[in-house]
Amino acid sequence: MKITVVGTGYVGLVSGACLADVGNDVLCLDVDAGKIRILEEGGIPIHEPGLLEIVRRNVAAGRLSFTTDIERAVAHGAVQFIAVGTPPDEDGSADLQYVLAAARNIGRYMDGYRVIVDKSTVPVGTGDKVKAAIAEELSKRSADLPFSVVSNPEFLKEGAAVEDFMRPDRIVVGAEDERAIESMRQLYAPFQRNHDKLVFMDVRSAELTKYAANAMLATRISFMNELANLAETLGADIELVRQGIGSDPRIGWHFLYAGCGYGGSCFPKDVKALIKTADEHGHKLKVLGAVEDANEAQKHVLIDKIVARFGDDLSGRRFALWGLAFKPNTDDMREAPSRVIIAELFRRGATVAAYDPVAMDETRRIFGDEARLSYVDRPMKALEEADALVIVTEWKEFRSPDFDRIRGLLRQPVLFDGRNMYDPAVMRESGLEYHGIGRR
Ligand code: UDX
Repeated sequence: MKITVVGTGYVGLVSGACLADVGNDVLCLDVDAGKIRILEEGGIPIHEPGLLEIVRRNVAAGRLSFTTDIERAVAHGAVQFIAVGTPPDEDGSADLQYVLAAARNIGRYMDGYRVIVDKSTVPVGTGDKVKAAIAEELSKRSADLPFSVVSNPEFLKEGAAVEDFMRPDRIVVGAEDERAIESMRQLYAPFQRNHDKLVFMDVRSAELTKYAANAMLATRISFMNELANLAETLGADIELVRQGIGSDPRIGWHFLYAGCGYGGSCFPKDVKALIKTADEHGHKLKVLGAVEDANEAQKHVLIDKIVARFGDDLSGRRFALWGLAFKPNTDDMREAPSRVIIAELFRRGATVAAYDPVAMDETRRIFGDEARLSYVDRPMKALEEADALVIVTEWKEFRSPDFDRIRGLLRQPVLFDGRNMYDPAVMRESGLEYHGIGRR
């Protein structure tokens, strides 16, 4: 099939590359000439495992190409994916200007039937707005051309996006006419292994499904974080509680890990946007409001522990930070707990030596030229002259460090673990003073 993907961000590029990989002819459009140049030169503008290989393979095979030419892009695909950003407005609602601009361009240049697929995470009702924008452009040029608008939200985890696209657990499609349903069936046939993964529904339900999924997962995390904080007070261990409840199939094992708060481009934004949408329709989402508040508080939990141990005035103190990205396998720093932790350490007069396998450039971009923040190229180097080690992201390379060396290098053998990576008993034996989240 001929497919156009508008937007070469993380969702657009992964979708475009994976769709090319199963044999489609995919053209990716972006208004950002810089991004297109990187792609044309054989690079990718983001860090995502496995993506570069897929992009290169499909470019070489002639199935994947890139352009800034809007007219050409609209002419190319029978299916037009909209995968542009929906950044939060100041009030937390999703900014639809890029989605609607893409829709208008399609209306302006289309010359025959098109299926327009919303892949961006958009508030319920956006499908209707996209439809209206296209219809308006068509009527401006008195063109009476058929088109369908489909909602097909993505459930791609950063760091595992290629795998998630290639082996989805479900493919949610909101489509309301047979022609569009048939196109989507054909498009996703190569991904239908083992069992039927397509879940067809109306457009609004599909739009809400995306928010429901992320809100549910964010809720689990905030709830576990809250239980972890309580466990500490009660002298219980959240890790044992997790094992005790995860085996109930109604609860399940995933997303039950207490930590120093969730971040990233999706959970915080989608939780805010859903609260806002509900507000606009006269519903107060009490549970989700609490989920958000709890997460904001959780990003301060490590600071609270540091202050309890070292006092509020941290001037002259230095902290080693392992991990900056909001989660492993990405350089994404959006809403990362590390940002709050660094800012709070600075506010109390401390300096920071940070290590992250891939997110240091991104951090440098955010904090600029900052004398209080130094970057090191090996985890152990961060510990020299540091009063304590703070772990913020659970990168695999931190799983089994040399604890004797950690103890030897630190000024004081204190470890704050925001991701519960280690066994408190092992820590005790290593002579490290261990502060986990909700651990006994
Ligand atoms: C998420 C959804 O998982 C994905 O389906 C959706 O399309 C986009 O949003 P992503 O933001 O890439 O993906 O990251 P995810 O792996 O879901 O983690 C989100 C945050 O939750 C991270 O900050 C992570 O550290 C945190 N988390 C996750 C926990 O604190 N505890 C857990 O048990 C799981």
